[in-house]
Amino acid sequence: MVTGRELDDAVAVLRAGGLVAFPTETVYGLGADAANPGAVRRIFEAKGRPPTHPVIVHLADAVQAANWAREVPEPARRLAQRFWPGPLTLILHRARGVSDVVTGGQDTVALRVPSHPVAQRLLARFGGGVAAPSANRHGRVSATTAEHVRREFGNAVTCVLDGGEADVGIESTIVDLSGARPALLRPGWIQAAEIEDVLGSPLVVPGADAPRAPGTLAAHYAPRTPLTLAEGDLALELAASLVRQGRRVAVLALSSQRPLLENLEWVAAPRAAAGYAHALYASLRRLDEAGCDAIIVERPPQSPEWAAIHDRLTRAAAGTPAPDDA
Ligand code: TXA
Ligand code: MG
Repeated sequence: MVTGRELDDAVAVLRAGGLVAFPTETVYGLGADAANPGAVRRIFEAKGRPPTHPVIVHLADAVQAANWAREVPEPARRLAQRFWPGPLTLILHRARGVSDVVTGGQDTVALRVPSHPVAQRLLARFGGGVAAPSANRHGRVSATTAEHVRREFGNAVTCVLDGGEADVGIESTIVDLSGARPALLRPGWIQAAEIEDVLGSPLVVPGADAPRAPGTLAAHYAPRTPLTLAEGDLALELAASLVRQGRRVAVLALSSQRPLLENLEWVAAPRAAAGYAHALYASLRRLDEAGCDAIIVERPPQSPEWAAIHDRLTRAAAGTPAPDDA
């Protein structure tokens, strides 16, 4: 449990322009006072993130959105009413005064009201917006526990609020409401169909003129070990053939049974999408830390509830061949 004293200390760190890692229901965030550009710059330094990548501003409640967005249009109000607090991020036109450091120099700002009780308490006590990307080194696997955060940043981030395992396990769904039509920038646990239900209109797939969302770069969420996605039987065949070549192989299995092979690191993933998402990043970290030559992930089903998981796995696979490009 996070004590009131720890929260007071964290708020003092934020007010002084420092960094606070905190739990949200999706993944851990690395936060700074969103109204202090120097503080937000420190996040980029700690993550090794390019300065043009915008960050999400986390708020205690939807009312505060009016301080950060020039206008909160009706569709945004409806989505906020339905899904906040929760794992949904809205892109709106920024209010005057919102720093370029936060928005990556764009005219839009990303807003989210997280539901995790520790995030809620922190934001309520702080009173302002907390800019926070996921608490991982740029391009790497997101953190779903305080221990992951500590291992990721070491002494560079000393204030880490421990709220246990993040519940959802993958990052928020991002909907862009700044364009002519609402667009899905990043799939998440809240599915496109649920959002379309509330909006009463379809979400478009972003075009070339949509705001940049680096979490949507092809290579992201990547372990250091090369990762390959393969259908169930093929995954096992691939693993077996690599092992026969003398390689050490890590497998994230879904429906396959563990074969009788040595040199095999084996993690059986939960069979339902919610459990799979919850465990995904911890599993990837564990498989990565096993120090194998390859990670093979059994490709999950194609149904909509797996869409965000597919998205993260595909990017993790795209991100691994060049371990130094994070
Ligand atoms: O669940 C989450 O969203 C977590 C927790 C900590 O809230 N945060 C997170 O932040 O995933 P980050 O920075 O790893 O990913 C945020 C994504 C990035 O792809 C970023 O480019 C996009 O949101 N984004 C932020 N501001 C934007 C803007 N103004 N326009 C378009 N995309 C934006
Ligand atoms: Mg991230």
